[in-house]
Amino acid sequence: MISPRDNVREIDHPLVQLHLTRLRDVNTSPAEFRSLVRRVATILAAAATDDLRLKKTTVQTPLATAPGYELAERIALVPILRAGLGLVDPLLDLIPDAEVWHLGLFRDEETARPVEYYQKLPASDPPDVALVVDPMLATGGSATLALDVLQRWGVPRTRLVVLIAAPEGIAAVREKFPETEIITAQVDEYLNDQKFIVPGLGDAGDRLFNTVPKS
Ligand code: PRP
Repeated sequence: MISPRDNVREIDHPLVQLHLTRLRDVNTSPAEFRSLVRRVATILAAAATDDLRLKKTTVQTPLATAPGYELAERIALVPILRAGLGLVDPLLDLIPDAEVWHLGLFRDEETARPVEYYQKLPASDPPDVALVVDPMLATGGSATLALDVLQRWGVPRTRLVVLIAAPEGIAAVREKFPETEIITAQVDEYLNDQKFIVPGLGDAGDRLFNTVPKS
């Protein structure tokens, strides 16, 4: 049995549940799928950023000086290519000063193990917080490889933002990175023989970019 799930926060918000239902629907078009990903990602992002550190400042209103805040730390968004790209714009809308560091990983179809094909992180000077974004957490191979890379870079705090997560992936992340919280819209039931999330929403990358095989 795979439990507990104390490294997971499931965002049980009515709008998330509404949009997730449309995301799962096999008849949802790529254009609507992209738009739904943005909406759900925005709500998840609010939860994923609730521990960002601020410092006090002041701002001049038309009438007076008011107390305010500015970010006290460097924030990185780390999309796992390809499908993670669908979550970047909604997070950048909320955190315009975030850095975006892409990681290219694909899952080998035979082994379901992640293969790294793009990584241009600098050798030093890591950000304070990294939000790894990807629509799916299946076996957890891609996410744990991404977190490995960020740990080697020296990022002190990481969170994982995924639309849906399988229990197997949650357990894999918890085992290697117990401090990394997973923010998700829903924890699904299981992985099938091909390591696809069931009931899931299909291949998020293919659905986002309209590359679902047509035959
Ligand atoms: C999917 C998904 C994750 C990964 C999840 O990407 O977007 O990155 O698989 O599976 P895991 O938890 O078992 O590693 P995929 O490899 O299909 O690549 P794509 O984004 O280019 O479609």
